[in-house]
Amino acid sequence: MTTEHPNSPQGYKTPVGILGVGHFVPEEILTNAELAKFVDTTDEWIVSRTGIRARRRATPEQATSDLAIEAGRRALEASGTRAEDIDLIIVATMTPDCPMPATSSIVQYKLGAARAAGFDLNIACSGFVYALITGAQFVASGTFRRVLVIGADCMTRLMNWKDRSTCVLFGDGAGAVVLGPVAAGYGIVGIHAGVNGAGGPSLTVNAGGSRLPSWSVGLDPADFYLKMEGPEVFRFAVSVMGEAALKALDNGGLTPEQVALFIPHQANARIIEASRKRLNLPPARVFSNVENYGNTSCGSVPLALSEALEQNRIQDGDLIVLVGFGGGLSWASAAIRWGGLQDS
Ligand SMILES: CC(C)(COP(=O)(O)OP(=O)(O)OC[C@H]1O[C@@H](n2cnc3c(N)ncnc32)[C@H](O)[C@@H]1OP(=O)(O)O)[C@@H](O)C(=O)NCCC(=O)NCCS
Repeated sequence: MTTEHPNSPQGYKTPVGILGVGHFVPEEILTNAELAKFVDTTDEWIVSRTGIRARRRATPEQATSDLAIEAGRRALEASGTRAEDIDLIIVATMTPDCPMPATSSIVQYKLGAARAAGFDLNIACSGFVYALITGAQFVASGTFRRVLVIGADCMTRLMNWKDRSTCVLFGDGAGAVVLGPVAAGYGIVGIHAGVNGAGGPSLTVNAGGSRLPSWSVGLDPADFYLKMEGPEVFRFAVSVMGEAALKALDNGGLTPEQVALFIPHQANARIIEASRKRLNLPPARVFSNVENYGNTSCGSVPLALSEALEQNRIQDGDLIVLVGFGGGLSWASAAIRWGGLQDS
């Protein structure tokens, strides 16, 4: 028999919530002033156009799984979950350690999540929110009880340090959440996701896949770097961020006035500000840490969520909204009623 839960997205048999959150960033801080030593840019330009003041950079020895594992470990600890009790690990990333094995396999082994299934999910910077709503389906259906969802990226590996229009924007980082059943009325109460493939060419990494394998003759190193039509992506981002939030809220029968904290993808302070206005929210109800980390792609939303919790910006019963957007072009959003934790 299907149990009805008020506000659960259609099809959820069991309400699904976040039981614990963690994040990890590499130690090295690359400030705008340091960037300006080897790129033709200024702190003033970067801050006024993006709000970014610094980003983190992984060491040459650190790969995405190293960030993902530490963020995952912290989320497990915060949720009081043992690694061996995890049923499924989803790693959202566009910078896996290598094409094979999947980063989730490396994370599973090193975390000691002995009986977990795992897979990677790649839909660029929207990855974490897509992975969140994907993982939630397994809990909602009763298939799994504990799902570790990690968003992690080493975006500095994709940077062309001679392209000032992209290399100032991105950084490395990871965040993770543990999903599980929560009390009725709590957890994920509305979701939305979409893709517009026609816009795909505006944000690309061209080489390294099956169309242009890394051994192709005549490749330029720049073919392996991220390329972006900045203004085009900016227009897309400004229009999609607020709309995606509204659609997740609408899916749960909710409105922006009820939102306690909006946690958008941390790509650019101007995009965040435009979506804040679209949702008509006061600045205090929007979280941003783009200033310190730049755009960490799949790490961005869970890293922001984790810091929002550390700063006591979220209380039990609060309605929060997460939105991711990025290459694809793609987007995903989730409205979450915080709390409702139960004894496992
Ligand atoms: C990248 C972005 C900040 C550029 O801002 P913009 O106001 O659109 O700037 P433009 O691209 O029009 O460039 C304006 C000028 O600044 C210059 N410029 C670009 N990057 C620069 C930098 N880092 N420092 C100094 N000047 C720079 C350009 O060369 C251009 O100069 P020109 O007018 O002489 O040709 C903005 O387009 C953006 O944020 N786009 C979305 C990016 C994003 O979120 N991507 C991730 C999606 S997940």
